[in-house]
Amino acid sequence: MSRLSAILLAASAVYASVAPAHESHTKSKPPGNSWYHEDDHPVHALFKRGPVGDGIIYPVVGTLEWSAGFPPAIADTTMLPQAWMDALSAATLAGKIPDIPQSTSTNGLDPVYPIGYDPISPNVCSSTAKCVTPGDIWDAPPGVVALSFDDGPLPASDQLYQFLASHSEHVTHFFIGTNILLYPEQFKTAFETNQDDIAVHTWTHPYMTTKSNIEILAEIGWTIELIHNSTGGRIPKYWRPPYGDCDMRVRAIAKEVFGLTTVIWNQDTDDWTLSEPLPLTTPEKIQQQMTQWLTGSKTPGLVILEHELSDLSVKSFMDAYPMMVSNGWTRTSLAQMDAGSVYQNAWNSTSKVNPAKVGDLAVKPPARASTTAKPTAATAKKPASSSPTSGKPASPNKPLGNQKSGATHFSAVSLALTGITAAIGVAAVGIIMA
Ligand SMILES: *[C@@H]1O[C@H](CO)[C@@H](O)[C@H](O)[C@H]1NC(C)=O
Ligand SMILES: *[C@@H]1O[C@H](CO)[C@@H](O)[C@H](O)[C@H]1NC(C)=O
Ligand SMILES: [Zn+2]
Repeated sequence: MSRLSAILLAASAVYASVAPAHESHTKSKPPGNSWYHEDDHPVHALFKRGPVGDGIIYPVVGTLEWSAGFPPAIADTTMLPQAWMDALSAATLAGKIPDIPQSTSTNGLDPVYPIGYDPISPNVCSSTAKCVTPGDIWDAPPGVVALSFDDGPLPASDQLYQFLASHSEHVTHFFIGTNILLYPEQFKTAFETNQDDIAVHTWTHPYMTTKSNIEILAEIGWTIELIHNSTGGRIPKYWRPPYGDCDMRVRAIAKEVFGLTTVIWNQDTDDWTLSEPLPLTTPEKIQQQMTQWLTGSKTPGLVILEHELSDLSVKSFMDAYPMMVSNGWTRTSLAQMDAGSVYQNAWNSTSKVNPAKVGDLAVKPPARASTTAKPTAATAKKPASSSPTSGKPASPNKPLGNQKSGATHFSAVSLALTGITAAIGVAAVGIIMA
């Protein structure tokens, strides 16, 4: 059976009872430059180390020359370019990097802070504790599903990319640096063939709040450098911290040193566990959740955490896709969602013009109430690279990725917080349209 007919068969088996989805070939916006910084953005100074404007030719993606200069497994901190160190020092001296302690994670459980550091206080503001800080992306504007996938590129990416291309959809890929080294062909398909957005998901997928400032520099810096050197010098604007784990210190390094905007999510399927020995969910359960979200309220819009990690996780997206179409959701890549359309203050030339309300972000409440249970030790999973028990760096031959035990990750949060999320949605629209 061909891959396409397998996809169609799977989709029709699940959706035999709903009206046939109309595939929108007109909807898809041309791939934009919304995922990378303009050429004159100051962050370019950290990566263009040759003479500027000399028309640098980068090595072909996938060649030895291309990969030789990068740390193969761990995010090496001993060979960091001086420009990154200087930028961190300057940001620290300017008081822009909050001096809060590293968290610790035991056996892959949610990171914890030393006594006296409240994760939902404004000065720590841990996204693992659901603290929301102005400027981070959690939600999409009403009626919009902002598409993104974590943990690629991987072998399972192939069928996702074919599916997306055949439906003229574009998504944002939060790529793991070491996975790009391992799967350059998939990387090229995402970037060149599908012309999708590339974003940062760190070099080795650790809990970032457990890392020192220098380690954070390495995790983010090497990933940006590899994307930069593999896309003709483009520098991504967005990153998603592994496990959604970020705080004011990590966020500040990402923003102040590397110009990155932090992206979390407002719905989580636990799709990454489908390929685990003890999955937290099933394909049927994911379709139930997807049905609930996609046929329910359109405010706020959806930022669903999804993974291009396994055939099953990819299939859970493909199975839900017809519902995005039949329920009239505007599909867009996450980066395009944030950058907005070319039509100022409106989605397109015919839709309503919304007044910009950027200031609303400043009054956004700092924290979301925690409504979900902690994972038990039995289901908790170690992060791929920072296992305190193994003591070994991640194998360069094994792709990284996976979300941990998803029980803590926001799936029940958004309804309880309609007020907050609606306000964020309005503010987001204001920014998008501005
Ligand atoms: C990335 O490209 C730059 C040129 O802009 C080059 O100087 C640098 O060595 C490359 N990085 C690696 C790790 O190969
Ligand atoms: C324009 O945007 C509106 C929403 O404001 C949407 O309903 C409509 O389908 C869009 N038109 C096109 C051609 O995309
Ligand atoms: Zn991940």
